[in-house]
Amino acid sequence: MTEMKPVSEATAVKAPVLPDAQTVTEVKHWTDRLFSFKVSRPASLRFRSGEFVMIGLLGDNGKPLLRAYSIASPSWDEELEFYSIKVQDGPLTSKLQHIQPGDQIILRPKPVGTLVHDALLPGKRLWFFATGTGFAPFASLLREPQTYEDYDEVIITHTCRDVAELDYGRELIENIRQDELLAELIGEGFANKIRYYPTTTREESPKMGRITELLKDGSVFADLGIEGGIKPDTDRAMVCGSLAFNHDIKAILEEFGLREGANSEPKEFVIEKAFVG
Ligand SMILES: Cc1cc2nc3c(=O)[nH]c(=O)nc-3n(C[C@H](O)[C@H](O)[C@H](O)COP(=O)(O)OP(=O)(O)OC[C@H]3O[C@@H](n4cnc5c(N)ncnc54)[C@H](O)[C@@H]3O)c2cc1C
Ligand SMILES: NC(=O)c1ccc[n+]([C@@H]2O[C@H](COP(=O)([O-])OP(=O)(O)OC[C@H]3O[C@@H](n4cnc5c(N)ncnc54)[C@H](OP(=O)(O)O)[C@@H]3O)[C@@H](O)[C@H]2O)c1
Repeated sequence: MTEMKPVSEATAVKAPVLPDAQTVTEVKHWTDRLFSFKVSRPASLRFRSGEFVMIGLLGDNGKPLLRAYSIASPSWDEELEFYSIKVQDGPLTSKLQHIQPGDQIILRPKPVGTLVHDALLPGKRLWFFATGTGFAPFASLLREPQTYEDYDEVIITHTCRDVAELDYGRELIENIRQDELLAELIGEGFANKIRYYPTTTREESPKMGRITELLKDGSVFADLGIEGGIKPDTDRAMVCGSLAFNHDIKAILEEFGLREGANSEPKEFVIEKAFVG
């Protein structure tokens, strides 16, 4: 093991000491509030697409400063990808936003979470409902072969304030559609099952409005040509957003007759927080 030093605002740690240190291989800044990055994957790490882990940096006091992060890459990938907010005065992300390839982060290899296929009963149509960085677990599940083995149709909705906040998700889906290796791995034409439904709430875009409102007034179903709305016998859903969003979507799904499931008790939908507060 080598030495790992605390991170200051402008410099990220270069030398690993902790057994849980991983090396940053790629960083991409999407907006002044959003970035994504890739790190090396510990050989022993097994996870189910959709799960989250604790990652972080050494704080100024020399102790690990860790936060929950959804793994945005699929379970078969050699590297691990994350999609992150930059909170300017956030204890972790005020520093994490400065990482560069070659730097080290801490990654606790204990994946957990409810946004996994095992927590849902079999169905025909799978809905992913995301706001903001809540897209991250779905970036993993959209590249997971089981998603397409289990479902005939996969609808991903992503609601953000501004158009630029949709870029990570939009580009990821475009790349999935053109990825020949993925088509080989998952099956030719798999991407035709994906239906992408992005909306914005504060900046003009082709589809404006909170997804909750668009579900309630039926626009989503009209836009996608779905008759009869969400049905408990065929439709399954995974939800990832703020506490308020999760609360509101849960009420809507329950009104459609779906029940919340868990790893130990699979049902028709599952929910995870994209952040607390
Ligand atoms: C299960 C779970 C999975 C998570 N996965 C991710 C992920 O994949 N990507 C990610 O960026 N964050 C994720 N988070 C949030 C993450 O754990 C941290 O809160 C975030 O990295 C900010 O850390 P911080 O120390 O800078 O600020 P914190 O002190 O943790 O947060 C400060 C404030 O910033 C706001 N905030 C925090 N995170 C977000 C966010 N993601 N989007 C919008 N506002 C936010 C909240 O108002 C919060 O009170 C997840 C949280 C949970 C519980
Ligand atoms: N995004 C920014 O540009 C920005 C800039 C500075 C600070 N912040 C702060 O960062 C934090 C997180 O911001 P965020 O934009 O990442 O996440 P957010 O506030 O959860 O909003 C993300 C998207 O989800 C929508 N949404 C929020 N609550 C909802 C609900 N109950 N039902 C349906 N849709 C809902 C929002 O619509 P609405 O627009 O209608 O709320 C927005 O389009 C907030 O505390 C915010 O004050 C954000």
